[in-house]
Amino acid sequence: MQQDANAALKDRFAQVFGPGGKVHVVRAPGRVNLIGEHTDYNDGFVFPMAIEPEVRIACRTRTDGKVRLGSTVFPNELVEFSLQNKIERGKPTWGNYSRGVAAEMIAAGIPLSGMDALLTNTLPVGGGLSSSAAVEVATGTAFLALAGLKLDQTRLALLCQKAEHDYAGVPSGIMDQTIVASGKPGTAMLLDCRDNSKRFIPIDANELRVVIVNSMVKHELSGGEYAQRRRQCEEGVHVLKQDHPQVRALRDVTMQQVEAAKGKMSEVVYRRCRHVVGENERTVEAAKKLEDRRYEDVGKLMVQSHNSLRDDYEVSCPELDFLVEQAMTVKGVYGARMTGGGFGGCIVALTQPRAVEGLTDHLHQTYTAQFGRQPSVFVTTATGGASVIE
Ligand code: GLA
Repeated sequence: MQQDANAALKDRFAQVFGPGGKVHVVRAPGRVNLIGEHTDYNDGFVFPMAIEPEVRIACRTRTDGKVRLGSTVFPNELVEFSLQNKIERGKPTWGNYSRGVAAEMIAAGIPLSGMDALLTNTLPVGGGLSSSAAVEVATGTAFLALAGLKLDQTRLALLCQKAEHDYAGVPSGIMDQTIVASGKPGTAMLLDCRDNSKRFIPIDANELRVVIVNSMVKHELSGGEYAQRRRQCEEGVHVLKQDHPQVRALRDVTMQQVEAAKGKMSEVVYRRCRHVVGENERTVEAAKKLEDRRYEDVGKLMVQSHNSLRDDYEVSCPELDFLVEQAMTVKGVYGARMTGGGFGGCIVALTQPRAVEGLTDHLHQTYTAQFGRQPSVFVTTATGGASVIE
């Protein structure tokens, strides 16, 4: 199956860029976050896993320092730039993720060669499953494969995050690039975003299913809401620091301290802080409960997370709220919540294996009746992080 997909991708590559030479294939998965939302840029905890939908790149080295990128998603467009000149953002904009990665790798002193590359993507673009991080990490992996170099995955993730900031204009945290680069099959990753330490916790495939439901509302993080949330968290830290000088980020704050500082900050900033501090606690606890196979407890924490994102952090939308509410009426569903940055995209549900069919049918029926469009529902196992396939 995988062989066929690679052969088809290489055929397309030869059609776009011509035959001959050694063509490598690399992949980088998408991700779903089980819990721990909007905590990463607060030095907190997240609990994502790498998923089956992915970005694949067929690539071949060029000796003239040029990079040419095609995409099966945008078959009539070609991105072109030279590694020898300053790399600027440009059109088509989907190329900015790769432009950014090339620029950051060069700035970090990594010697790259030019390449022709064809991208293919089974992740929904704008679906909140980190298709952008997958493109970034896959691009980095392709450059490294052609240069015959290896790079620590955490370092690669940091370079890709920088590309996201500087070339895609989203001041994202480190969660997406880290899990995409460093996921381990069959596990979710409890990541401490302060020091990048990771604990991998198994997801027992005999007992659990991870179901992703795409609301088909496109999420958009470069629109300013994401950056605004970050600023509000910083404002909270600024206030909390006055009484607690040791506080560097919301990660260092307790709920008691937030409550005590309530009168000193705006009501909105207070609610943002309350979400982040509560979400950090929920994330650490959920990882522990998953490890202990206390699935009902994990599920409850997921629903609390959703409610907090809806009411305190205000990054949900009616479609996501509806999907979570409906999912929770189905027998055998432990928990459900919006996942990723928000404002559209997907929910994630943790269920018993036998609940999947009923959940899928129920969501198709109720969501379509309510919003006049079909959600996309799929089950995924946890896969490994980015790799060179051939
Ligand atoms: C986006 C960002 C991540 C993280 C999530 C919210 O996916 O890229 O860094 O902040 O939103 O948890």
